[in-house]
Amino acid sequence: MDKLLFSSFKKSCPYLSRASPSELHALMTRPFSTSPRTSMVKNSCPHSNAKTDSSILDKASECPVVGSAIKAGAIPSSPDYEGIFEHKLQKKHSDKSYRYFNNINRLAKHYPKAHTSSRDQLVEVWCSNDYLGMSNKPIVIDSMKKALDDYGAGAGGTRNIAGNSALLLELETELAGLHNKEAALVFTSCMVANDATLTTLATAMPDLVYFSDQMNHASMIQGIRNSRAKKHVFRHNDLAHLEELLAQYPISTPKVIAFESVYSMSGTVGHIPQICQLAKKYGALTFLDEVHAVGMYGKTGAGVSEHYAFRDGNTSVMDSVDMITGTLGKAFGVVGGYVAASARTIDYFRSYAPGFIFTTSLPPAVAAGAITSIRYLRQSGKERFLQQTHTADLKAKLIKAGIPVIPNPSHIVPILVGDAEKAKWASDRLLSHYKIYIQSINYPTVSVGEERLRITPGPGHTPELVDNLVQSIYEIWDVAGFKTIDDWAKEGGKCGVGAPADSRGPQVC
Ligand SMILES: Cc1ncc(COP(=O)(O)O)c(C=O)c1O
Repeated sequence: MDKLLFSSFKKSCPYLSRASPSELHALMTRPFSTSPRTSMVKNSCPHSNAKTDSSILDKASECPVVGSAIKAGAIPSSPDYEGIFEHKLQKKHSDKSYRYFNNINRLAKHYPKAHTSSRDQLVEVWCSNDYLGMSNKPIVIDSMKKALDDYGAGAGGTRNIAGNSALLLELETELAGLHNKEAALVFTSCMVANDATLTTLATAMPDLVYFSDQMNHASMIQGIRNSRAKKHVFRHNDLAHLEELLAQYPISTPKVIAFESVYSMSGTVGHIPQICQLAKKYGALTFLDEVHAVGMYGKTGAGVSEHYAFRDGNTSVMDSVDMITGTLGKAFGVVGGYVAASARTIDYFRSYAPGFIFTTSLPPAVAAGAITSIRYLRQSGKERFLQQTHTADLKAKLIKAGIPVIPNPSHIVPILVGDAEKAKWASDRLLSHYKIYIQSINYPTVSVGEERLRITPGPGHTPELVDNLVQSIYEIWDVAGFKTIDDWAKEGGKCGVGAPADSRGPQVC
């Protein structure tokens, strides 16, 4: 191949650009059809789907980035950006992971109803993370309206420059109090809080090692990845595996165990007391994401780690977690994320975390709404009680009807479908035939073959609505011939459905 053409391809082609000088030399000096080159293309080119038995040029000509230029024998002037994106999207369509977003407008005065793209088409929402309906509570809305009138729409700056309002400081004091920690720090979301804090921890401790539960949320995975620290992934809720990994390191090696209290897609619950004990034994810090638990568990809604005090009188569990992250966007009904920890840890994040420092603060109205919501739920157990009652009612009725509910002790009701297309079909049919909105959950949020419908009953899902939902799902399962609990059991069980109840984690409800 012409040297000029080759170096031009090197600039444009992800495969060629990654080739080392010696690989390039080999490519340029050997005949095109030799096998070392073809395997290099196959191993390295993220775009080419070519088989190994044709020449490198044949393979490169299938590449969406430089393929057309190669076919024309021309020097590519710039990458085919649209072609690159199209190729990536096609990949998602073909592995069924392409995401469809429904147009859903939840109505504050008609919870749990929403309208779709048309205002007169009402549907019942059964999958919202506004778990307790706090986003439409008049006291929350009124406090936000007042803050809007007093302080305007936006924060007006970062925390460092003109955006450090009294309401944000009050919110952080409230959150620290909720989790019985010395301090707390608010971020624009918990996605950002997890990413920023986990990344920043490793800045202080370059030899830090992370121990991360296999089912941790993308925000934690991203934070750990961005930190570039060494990491070990332990099997979900597997304490023996975690201990085996921890024991490889001397006690003096800095370690962080990152895990969740309620895992959002399975509803399983982390072994908080046991993990804290292991952390103590091996000299690790604990980082607990309580995103799907704050507002909903514990006497005052501080999460599962508070629940132990409520249930067993054991106040030490929450206190033994070093860092707790949470969201203001789910049970608290507003938006934002936070971390609660010791005063020094929080000051460290405040001083070093780019995701905290270099972004506009949450608007004062959001802070006001969050304060009202947290304070309300610290006092009122009514919403938590109704949520748990409706959840238990729904689970029992679905199981009685043979619908494969993935067993778990929390407020999340996942129904196993086991196929991406079928799960989307069920979700679409619920919407079109029954005016019920439940989002299907497909890969990569869950593993292939474990696709599901995820239901989150709340205080507004009365027994009548529960009965209607169970009947609707039953009809869908019947029409489509989807697998029931017995069908899964005959196959040996999956995700705990049709399997003996041995590894379901600690009971919380
Ligand atoms: C476990 C977990 N952590 C963190 C987040 C991010 O929270 P936020 O919505 O506040 O960004 C989510 C979001 O769903 C989550 O499921």
